[in-house]
Amino acid sequence: MSLMQTDFTEASSAPPNVMIIFGAGGDLTARKLIPALFHLSNARLLPESFAVLGLDRLDFDDDGFRDRMAEQIKAHVGEVFDQAIWDWLLARIHYMKIDMLSGPDYELLCERLSRIDAERGTEGNYLFYMAIPPSLFGKVTDHLGEVGLLHETEDDWRRVIIEKPFGRDLDSAIALNNELHRNMDEDQIYRIDHYLGKETVQNIMVFRFANGFIEPLWNRQHIDHVQITVAESVGVEHRGAYYEEAGAMRDMIPNHLLVLLGFVAMEPPNSFEATALRDEVNKVLDAIQPLTPEQVLTCAVRGQYGAGSMPNGEQVQAYRSSQGVDPNSHTETFAALKLGMDNWRWAGVPFYLRTGKRLTAQYTEIAIQFKRAPTIMFKDTEVEELEPDMLVLRIQPNEGIQMSFGAKVPGPTMKIGAVNMDFCYEDYFGNKPATGYETLIYDCMKGDATLYKHADTVEKGWEIVQSVLDVWNALPPREFPNYAAGTWGPPAAGDLTKNDGRLWRRIEIPKARGR
Ligand code: BG6
Repeated sequence: MSLMQTDFTEASSAPPNVMIIFGAGGDLTARKLIPALFHLSNARLLPESFAVLGLDRLDFDDDGFRDRMAEQIKAHVGEVFDQAIWDWLLARIHYMKIDMLSGPDYELLCERLSRIDAERGTEGNYLFYMAIPPSLFGKVTDHLGEVGLLHETEDDWRRVIIEKPFGRDLDSAIALNNELHRNMDEDQIYRIDHYLGKETVQNIMVFRFANGFIEPLWNRQHIDHVQITVAESVGVEHRGAYYEEAGAMRDMIPNHLLVLLGFVAMEPPNSFEATALRDEVNKVLDAIQPLTPEQVLTCAVRGQYGAGSMPNGEQVQAYRSSQGVDPNSHTETFAALKLGMDNWRWAGVPFYLRTGKRLTAQYTEIAIQFKRAPTIMFKDTEVEELEPDMLVLRIQPNEGIQMSFGAKVPGPTMKIGAVNMDFCYEDYFGNKPATGYETLIYDCMKGDATLYKHADTVEKGWEIVQSVLDVWNALPPREFPNYAAGTWGPPAAGDLTKNDGRLWRRIEIPKARGR
């Protein structure tokens, strides 16, 4: 696994291959995939024998598609743009118009790939990237299977990257996995969760397991509770139709928030091999107690934003007024959960999760609150109560780690003030432009699935939220919209922690200091 290798100085280039992008006319290709390939070639991690083949129903030839990518690349890679690197990549980008549901087109695809192999020396290694709706995954892989494009031999590999959503509930996730397994072994399937491509998410493991002082404290003896916040200030933008079907719970919790929880809570794996790491994450998910219907009523909160005013003064419309959204929609744009784990390390430690759109800030963090000191020894002083110590892993933006603890306020009397020790990535490592897809694409080319999701992990994620979805489905919300855009969500989310005598951390986003 290429952990912490965004500058990849020691890494070797990927093996010869063709990356075939289904849905190449969509946003993802121009915004993320081609820029990620640019960064990889800039880091000399793509092999000389490399090609991209974009597939879509749009009418382009190679040059037309190249022009389209060229128009956008500078906007997406910014100041690291380098003409020579881009020319190198551009010459390797090809396009083929295809009807993804037509069998004969896959015969043509085979011929085209054979020609590319002959011209580019790509040796029959194919990485298929499914930048298409999930309803097409099964059909496309069936066609690829029929023409033998998913058949691996000792000399060549065939891998498929798929994007979420991996189903919309447990049953559909199982059905999707079955469809994929019709034509592929599990080790050919790379389910991408872009949170696993984030440096700061990978750093959770480094922080925990590369430093001796953390692990002794990382358990129920010392930790009071954990809060995971993935807050977005953006609304649903042009994705209303998709979001109506998904909602905040499906869109974020079984995937991104449970990835964060898995990395925070897992036992040290024996190695950073894919199986070892995924097994530990799966054990965490297994240990999470599914909520009973009664518990759903007290441990799960949903919300939908109404019109409101964002901190920058922008007036924004209600979710129900967004394009593609039902004016009486019951879809939640906010979800919060309180989860517990049945295992030795975490028994009795609540994990509070919250995520939502149109919240006060665009901000993701994991806050670990330690237990208070057992006694206040500063009796007969001005100290009445000690603040709990808090460790905050800032995932984005201003990536870093902050430790808040008590220190003596200078002066003749004993007063204790809360202070912060703050590490900002940028101060130490500068600002390295990346899309978050570089490590993941490179790992797939190398056959390293550590940062991809196994079928089991996906199904376990759905199992955890299924009881909530069932109750929410049976009891339509009565009070939507129940929070104004620009706030921290519905009041009931506050009760989730307040009822336990706790509070959500007040989030103040530190400014990057620069070097
Ligand atoms: C996506 C969700 O998976 O993650 C989006 O579908 C969400 O709704 C996005 O906005 C958040 O990703 P990030 O990297 O901006 O935190």
